[in-house]
Order: sequence, then C-alpha cells, then structure tokens
Amino acid sequence: MVLVLCAMKEEVSEISVNIKDKELISHFKLGFYEGTLAGKRILVGRVGVGKVMSAMVVQRLMDIYKPEAVIFAGIAGAVNTDLEIGDIVVSKDCMQHDLDTTSLGFKIGEIPYTGMRILEADQKLVDAAMSYECSEEKIITGRVLTGDQFINEKSEQKRKFFSEELEGDAVEMEGAAVGFVAEMNNVPFVLVRVISDQADGNAPENFRDFLHTSSVKISDIVKHILEKLDN
Ligand code: ADE
Repeated sequence: MVLVLCAMKEEVSEISVNIKDKELISHFKLGFYEGTLAGKRILVGRVGVGKVMSAMVVQRLMDIYKPEAVIFAGIAGAVNTDLEIGDIVVSKDCMQHDLDTTSLGFKIGEIPYTGMRILEADQKLVDAAMSYECSEEKIITGRVLTGDQFINEKSEQKRKFFSEELEGDAVEMEGAAVGFVAEMNNVPFVLVRVISDQADGNAPENFRDFLHTSSVKISDIVKHILEKLDN
C-alpha cells in the first residue's frame, strides 16, 4: 500500500477520478479512496492544511495501513527565482522554515534535542519522479520549506533568507511535517509540488483553472512514480 496524499481536495481530485476499484473510507471525517492506480494499491485523499493536521492524519494512516511509501503532492510557492508557475519541484529534502529555537543555540528548522533538521526524501522515489517527462514545464529536485504560513512576501530580505540562507526552492505548509512523520515511522517519502505562485502575493490570474491543471499534472506524475515502483 502506498499513501498518496495532498493537503486540499482540489489538489487530489484528479487522482481520485483515476483510481480504479475504489472504496470510500473515512478517517477524522475526511474521505479517502482505497483502490488501484498503475497496478498499485493506494490510499488517496486530503489530509488538511498545515503541519499539525497533516502530521496527525498521516500518523493515523501509517498506524492503520503500514504503507510502504508516502507520496505527498500539491501546489507550492517558488523561492528559487528560476522557477515559473507550473514548474514541478520534487523534494530532494525538506525542512521546517518556521521552527526557530536559534535563541537556544539551535539552527533554524532544527527539532531541538533530536539532531533532525533537513529530512531527506527517498532516492528511489525521487528518481522515479524525475524520470517523468514534462511537456513545456521544468521539473527539478530541490529543497521544500514548510511552515504554518501562506508566504506572501514582498520583502527581498525575507525572500533571500528562504532562497540563500535556507537554500530553499519551494515553500508550502505540510511537506516537512509529513516527511517527519514518515521518517519517524521508517517509511520512505517524496514530496511533489507544482509551483502556483512566487510566494509574493501574486496568484495566477485564473486560480481555479490553475488548480485543475495542477491536479491533472499531480495525477500524471503520481501515476508515473507508481509505475516505476517494484510491484
Ligand atoms: N502553497 C502554495 N503557495 C504557497 C505559499 N506562497 N506559501 C505557502 N504555501 C503555499
């Protein structure tokens, strides 16, 4: 069983359409489909927005399904200035940009007293994602920064903090929380993020259409990753 999860229903909608032999199951009043995609048993659904909710739901799903892998997908803001709207970032790693105990001598993102900070995605899952052939958009591996804020940052200084100091490529609100739960449970994970904005407050003009296109892209790339996994 592979968990295929997103934060919002708009992100996950196209996978839910494509999954075969599906059965609707509810956890925490959230609907999930269990079924088959690319010959693999998957559980697909949304886990909610932000670190707390996503971590809690993913831990519950791990306890129940004992998955062999987690693919977490959705949209993200770009902090790498080479990225354009519609491009795809596959996590080589991820970290929490808003976990700050620097006043106690820890680094930004470090989970105090654990030695954990930058969480690495599974190389096989990353390779599988990176073999996806895009049409016109770029696909890169990079660092996903996670925090409990929708970043809408005009200040050059803060943007530089994300891109230069933290060496981030994309910013979103769940990835490193899901990655942390996966790591604690010894389950391989990868994050796949479609760039929706430049984290500067300017969303694509037609955001609804954009979400639909992203959901199709997410479904395609997830299917591709599943096809590449050993059965
Ligand atoms: N998801 C999509 N865009 C985002 C942003 N700018 N900040 C946080 N999460 C996002």
